[in-house]
Amino acid sequence: MTPAAAAALPGAPFVHWRDGRLWLEDICLQTLVEQHGTPLFVYSQAAILSALAAYQRGLAGRDALICYALKANSSLAILKLLAQAGCGFDIVSAGELERALAAGADPARIVFSGVGKTPAEMRRALQAGIGCFNVESEAELETLNAVALAQGDGAPAPVSLRVNPNVDAQTHPYIATGLRDNKFGIAHDNTLAAYLRAAALPGLRVLGIDCHIGSQITSEAPYLQAMDRVLDLLAAIEARGIALAHIDFGGGLGIDYHGEAPPAADALWHKLLARLDARGYGSRKILIEPGRSLVGNAGLCLTQTLYLKPGAHKNFCVVDAAMNDLPRPALYQSHHQIVPLSAPAPQTPARVYDVVGPVCESGDWLGKDRLLAVRAGDMLAVLSTGAYCMSMSSNYNSRPRAAEILVSGASSRLIRQREPVHDLWRLENP
Ligand code: LLP
Repeated sequence: MTPAAAAALPGAPFVHWRDGRLWLEDICLQTLVEQHGTPLFVYSQAAILSALAAYQRGLAGRDALICYALKANSSLAILKLLAQAGCGFDIVSAGELERALAAGADPARIVFSGVGKTPAEMRRALQAGIGCFNVESEAELETLNAVALAQGDGAPAPVSLRVNPNVDAQTHPYIATGLRDNKFGIAHDNTLAAYLRAAALPGLRVLGIDCHIGSQITSEAPYLQAMDRVLDLLAAIEARGIALAHIDFGGGLGIDYHGEAPPAADALWHKLLARLDARGYGSRKILIEPGRSLVGNAGLCLTQTLYLKPGAHKNFCVVDAAMNDLPRPALYQSHHQIVPLSAPAPQTPARVYDVVGPVCESGDWLGKDRLLAVRAGDMLAVLSTGAYCMSMSSNYNSRPRAAEILVSGASSRLIRQREPVHDLWRLENP
């Protein structure tokens, strides 16, 4: 896509062309590159808050709590922004718990998911006073019970059991989590027995039920199916005298990377609430755990073209961001749009390139077969990289992690410094 093609970019709200340059909100991205270098992640505060507002509209008037799944992007400034906007958090490790607390989260608004919580993590979460443990196995129930009973105050641990509803989320197999063959949750058929056991354990206080069927879900059908399966169970559990104060429907809503058209969060929740109402559970407390859909389209990664390698069979455009910064293409063959930061210089030929990073692996590519009019030195933006990019980045090839900027209107703020190279071996003992 060239600057002439469109003033606004699909799947990249608050990104637009102005005078032949790419802007995010009221900031010219070229100026950020000049100040901070590349690779550089840049996020739009307005895009994050408007994604959140869609959920808030969809759930307006309900007893609902949006628990941002911070694995999507756990940078403190983003957590703080979302906490201040009223979010709770869905965590999956003690590290995420400490991050959420460091960002000012209210522990009572934190739910703790994950198949492998350690006793030490359980103790810390109990001590912090988190809102709920989303328990994923019968064995975990027993461990959590023992940990809670051994705590000084003897207060029972608040629990919800994560059901695996065996629903196909129609997404990449690595990020489908609600199928029978996935490691997540308690099998639908075993859930009632697990609730009876949980209710009998003195160290536990049964609070709710939850599910999460996958990520990058682009239609409403799997949600409706999962909701029906969870409500069937809820009825059976309550018929046995166990009251469930809340239902947590997980996260998973997809975003537009490359022409996908997932339902808007408010439209999705309009439909889901209609089903909930029809089944008589409309006044139940609702929790949700969105990650990607709050931050994914709000971020981009700026990178500089280092070399062009035209070839007989392939042309390569080698850039300074790599799979350590942007692991999603290598892991899931995911598509991220790649656009120049400026209109091409006159007479720059447009060619089809594989856009690749400097890391020594053939899997280190950011985009395949992209038509680009670029020269060495030109800047590019990799779009829709606000979720599962920085949070999954690594130091492979001893590459320091990128810097991050949060943009709001005409102001921008460095929210994470570029990692100094000597920090890479700070904890080592040669
Ligand atoms: N709740 C639970 C229990 C989860 O496991 C997840 C994501 C979420 C909520 C948030 O899901 P979201 O709304 O972000 O789809 N790295 C992969 C995605 C992994 C998702 C894992 N679980 C990717 O880059 O596509």
